[in-house]
Amino acid sequence: MKIKNLALALSFILPQAYAFAQSAMFIGEAQKPADKKVYITIDENALDYSEKKFGSRVRLLGTNDGISALEVDEDALPWLGLLMHRDFNRCAGYIRHESLDEVEGFLLSEDQKFQASFERLVGYEINQKESVEVAINEVSSTNIYNSITKLSAFQNRYYKGVNGKASAQWIFDEWAKLANGRSDIKVEFFKHVQWDQPSVVMTIQGQGPETIIVGGHQDSISGYYSGDNVRAPGADDNASGISTITEVARVLMSKSYRPEKTIKFIAYAAEEVGLLGSKEIAKVYKDQKINVIGVMQLDMTNFKGSKDFDIVLMNDYTNAEQNKFIGSLIETYLPSVKWGYDSCGYACSDHASWHMQGFAASVPFEAKMREMNKRIHTANDLISVSGDNAEHAAKFAKLALAFVIELDK
Ligand code: BES
Ligand code: ZN
Repeated sequence: MKIKNLALALSFILPQAYAFAQSAMFIGEAQKPADKKVYITIDENALDYSEKKFGSRVRLLGTNDGISALEVDEDALPWLGLLMHRDFNRCAGYIRHESLDEVEGFLLSEDQKFQASFERLVGYEINQKESVEVAINEVSSTNIYNSITKLSAFQNRYYKGVNGKASAQWIFDEWAKLANGRSDIKVEFFKHVQWDQPSVVMTIQGQGPETIIVGGHQDSISGYYSGDNVRAPGADDNASGISTITEVARVLMSKSYRPEKTIKFIAYAAEEVGLLGSKEIAKVYKDQKINVIGVMQLDMTNFKGSKDFDIVLMNDYTNAEQNKFIGSLIETYLPSVKWGYDSCGYACSDHASWHMQGFAASVPFEAKMREMNKRIHTANDLISVSGDNAEHAAKFAKLALAFVIELDK
């Protein structure tokens, strides 16, 4: 009877002692220099436990939806399995992954997974020299000048009131004229429920699901605006951006450019009152899972305020990789154009709406922030302030053409 009891006691104590001895042995092991790393996902509840047992031999990469991803020394894995089995009564208690890429997938939200699924496909190579050069040689600063003059002749382009609606219609008509005769191109209003001014969207349909966007805001403002009669020409802010975009579209049409990816030009409504138009559009595109692979914002392109810089890329609310790509485009195609970086310090234009929805956005700007056009948001934002020409804006049209063609192919 006594022997039976002893056997029973031993059968209970021995496995515990065995596992204890092994975990103690492991702690000795833990002092060894770290070797090959592997990746695992493990129940979040077991995380504290593994960290306590294995110290620096496991490293938390992140936790999502109750699953923690860890980087672990390969030789620690069998011990982790054993202890998980003993203390959590699980088989191995973890899933092993062969690459960091694979394990990172577990840490992404559904939105991030969607974003990553196509971002990986975006190559920032520059290999369309011939088509880009043909296109940029076609840019006319006179066209941009004429368009700025027309847009700034509206009393204002405020998002509320008759003028902002009429100027949207003018943009629509100009873009529709450009699209004339091509069944793969459509120009549409994107209506906003809360105010009258619609955004305007020109789409050149490509073959695949990816979309490239070049946009700018169409509205203007003067001070805090107080009625249809207030003068807000907004020649630089932002008739210049809309006119630059219009010239990009014209050049592509004149070359009968047929894109592989879908290209959209957008004139956003209601930017000056808190990015309202672009916020709504970026959210709809995100909700509809539209594969936007790159967004360029053109807001203020015609005032050369900085002696040492022609194009300044804002590095906040933008995508660093895409910004680098745009810098390389300038160096390749516009070697005499001087460029650099600056930051707005806040969500200063529509690129931020895209960025906040997780899309890659950039904003090439006319000058360093400190040296930008000081007449904006007044009755004196006229093209005369920019020397009564659109030479500066023409550089941005060339850059946007390079961006579209190189991202497309
Ligand atoms: N074009 C301006 C400012 C700007 C500065 C744009 C630098 C891009 C780079 C823009 O239209 C504007 O006035 N934005 C507002 C903020 C907006 C959220 C109302 C501003 O800067 O105060
Ligand atoms: Zn603006």
